[in-house]
Amino acid sequence: MTTISVAQALAGKVPEGGQVSVRGWVRTRRDSKAGLSFVNVSDGSCFAPIQVVAPDTLANYDSEVKHLTTGCAVIATGTLVKSQGQGQSFEVQASNIEVVGWVEDPLTYPMQPKQHSLEYLREFAHLRPRTNLFGAVTRIRHCLAQAVHRFFHEREFYWISTPIITTSDAEGAGQMFRVSTLDMANLPRDGKGNVDFSRDFFGKETFLTVSGQLNVEAYCLSLSKVYTFGPTFRAENSNTTRHLAEFWMIEPEIAFADLNDDANLAEDFLKYLFRAVLDERADDMAFIAERVQKDAVTRLEKFINAPFERIDYTDAITLLQKSGRKFDFPVEWGLDLQTEHERWLTEEHVGRPVVVMNYPEQIKAFYMRINDDGRTVAAMDVLAPGIGEIIGGSQREERLDVLDARMAQFGLDPAHYGWYRDFRRYGTVPHAGFGLGFERLVVYVCGLANIRDAIAYPRAPGSAEF
Ligand code: 4AD
Repeated sequence: MTTISVAQALAGKVPEGGQVSVRGWVRTRRDSKAGLSFVNVSDGSCFAPIQVVAPDTLANYDSEVKHLTTGCAVIATGTLVKSQGQGQSFEVQASNIEVVGWVEDPLTYPMQPKQHSLEYLREFAHLRPRTNLFGAVTRIRHCLAQAVHRFFHEREFYWISTPIITTSDAEGAGQMFRVSTLDMANLPRDGKGNVDFSRDFFGKETFLTVSGQLNVEAYCLSLSKVYTFGPTFRAENSNTTRHLAEFWMIEPEIAFADLNDDANLAEDFLKYLFRAVLDERADDMAFIAERVQKDAVTRLEKFINAPFERIDYTDAITLLQKSGRKFDFPVEWGLDLQTEHERWLTEEHVGRPVVVMNYPEQIKAFYMRINDDGRTVAAMDVLAPGIGEIIGGSQREERLDVLDARMAQFGLDPAHYGWYRDFRRYGTVPHAGFGLGFERLVVYVCGLANIRDAIAYPRAPGSAEF
């Protein structure tokens, strides 16, 4: 007798007629007049549950099997046979069903076998993985994470674990969560009345990281091709469907590279990830296409097969101004593109992903390389149809004097960035990188309307349950 996952059972990993045990949670139970019960059991290993056929000759048939409800945990043992049922490859003809965990009160079990609204499910973040949708999103997310590491490993990139607790604001945007062990009710003060962070745990003021980029740049300038993939935190008060306070970011960094190399890497990377999902999670993607986004599969195919369009920011502004479209936000050289502008460019103007390059220096971060025109920086955003910005990246300012001037312009204290300045002092080279928001990627692939459904336990303003 072999204990196997539902995925293995349905894929016929055990020869027909083999004795198997499957373990999982009951999705549905149906009793026939002929004295059989059909119990669908899911263990989350794949989209489909397996059908367990329970005859009334089982010792606990009347006492237990006929009382199974959605959510009960069972171990079903029996013979794996080809199924006559439509859409089922194999089923288990049970010789024993052990009930491991009952559902206390079936009528109040929050995950009833019906379609719940996403808003409702968000209130049960601890139980929603039992639904078809969150099972599918979770497996797709896992597949994407595996593909991220595989893509970089195949191309000789090394994975660097950058710190979560940091002293520097990598984006210079002042959106950091403070980390402190000080007693809030009795804060130590210096002679000027300011909080004395030298008395804090690390002897200085520390924060949760907004990006691993600055740390990974150091490794890029010695290991050449590197990336981080970890949690990042932003205390921006953006209560939107595209922002989280805690999200995962993938940030590759390449040495001896410019903005075009960066854009090439971003394009290859996204296409690789989408191919992986289509190849490895066809079952979940078919469900996404049926339930969430009709063209979920063809959309990704189209994305993979077409080259990304590259547009200069300045040209993008001209195109938007000439579009004849009335936008809510102004379109003017020097202002950032808003989601409505990004969506017009990618969905209506080009019809495929767009890389917007060379933004005005005043709206971008201090570390981006100033172009020869002195007005723009070598920055890029990758915009995807249906979502807008999915990747932000740039060539980094590798010239120490220019970097110092930029830091002064942003009011950043060079003393805080001494180590960051060091790579410009010792063997500096042109280098570039980008950040892909992992949940924005999941949102795009799964056609989700709200980023809070792309992560297990979303963190957003006023919301940190579970
Ligand atoms: O454009 P951003 O702020 O770039 C950086 O952090 C750079 N340090 C990246 C780099 O060059 N290494 O963020 C990069 C991406 C965005 O394109 C978006 O996908 C995602 O991170 N992102 C968020 N995702 C969810 N919630 C938020 N609040 C996000 N802020 C950014």
